[in-house]
Amino acid sequence: MKDQAEELRIKLKLAEENSAPKTIAVVSGKGGVGKSNLSLSFSISLALKGNKVLLFDMDMGMGNLDILMGNTSEISIVDFLEGSISLKDAVMDGPKGLKYIAGGSGLSHLVGLDAGLVDKFVKELTVIFKEYDYVIFDMGAGITDGTLKFILSVQEIVVITTPEPTAMTDAYAMMKHIHLMDSAIPFYVVINRAQSDKEGLQTFSRLSKVVKSFLDREIICLGSVPDDHVIQQAVRQQIPFILYNEKAQASKALKGISDKYIRRQFSQEPISKNSLHFVSKLKQFLFER
Ligand SMILES: Nc1ncnc2c1ncn2[C@@H]1O[C@H](COP(=O)(O)OP(=O)(O)OP(=O)(O)O)[C@@H](O)[C@H]1O
Ligand SMILES: [Mg+2]
Repeated sequence: MKDQAEELRIKLKLAEENSAPKTIAVVSGKGGVGKSNLSLSFSISLALKGNKVLLFDMDMGMGNLDILMGNTSEISIVDFLEGSISLKDAVMDGPKGLKYIAGGSGLSHLVGLDAGLVDKFVKELTVIFKEYDYVIFDMGAGITDGTLKFILSVQEIVVITTPEPTAMTDAYAMMKHIHLMDSAIPFYVVINRAQSDKEGLQTFSRLSKVVKSFLDREIICLGSVPDDHVIQQAVRQQIPFILYNEKAQASKALKGISDKYIRRQFSQEPISKNSLHFVSKLKQFLFER
């Protein structure tokens, strides 16, 4: 009961603050660290709490979110970019009320869009965004000019890394790159494939120290997800791991992460009235080429 009341308060607060959804980009430096699996299960867990969530596969050309949930989408963002459908028609039904836009296949279409299409994209985003509490972008690994514009337009960034030094170095490089363009976007960090909670904490602590000493800023720990073969099984079965086995260690950890994320939403200061919304920021970035 208490949890439900708290969730309701959080929802009301979000609704009051902002009619636009919260926008989150899930990024990593190194590829293959678990962005798509974690962003899918994270989105489902927000949807299970009664939120309206849109998950946007930004790995255009190599999108695989639809495969991870057992749908092979005929329609993707590429169809919109090619002008054959509206953005609203690219929104598909996922599990538990989750909506998603598939990444499709083909080359990245975002770089070098003509101004007319960019304008249409931004306009249609404005319309569909109104329907959601959260819009989550599963970004491809690394940064391109096109994806950087998206990343710089969101309100929050979730950085995924594993404890491997290679992944951590790339995670730091990614944060530095973003930080130098915009030092105000909050960084949340999730350590994936940790061998233990302790390793997760140590990894976060190391990363946090480096960020503090070189970039002079704080990062926020959302938690760690253990290395769990259930995720590999879930991928093979094409069922999001949180639904495949909700009792698995990875699923429990993920739920803890989404609970922590929601609690933080509640305790945060309201978004500054001056801060531009995602769509206006994106428009600015896309048109300033
Ligand atoms: N916590 C985990 N435990 C065990 N295996 C995992 C875990 N997280 C991810 N994996 C494995 O790593 C693979 C890659 O995960 P995923 O596709 O989510 O990464 P990604 O960061 O989205 O990759 P890309 O950079 O290519 O988009 C999964 O198919 C799964 O086999
Ligand atoms: Mg991915």
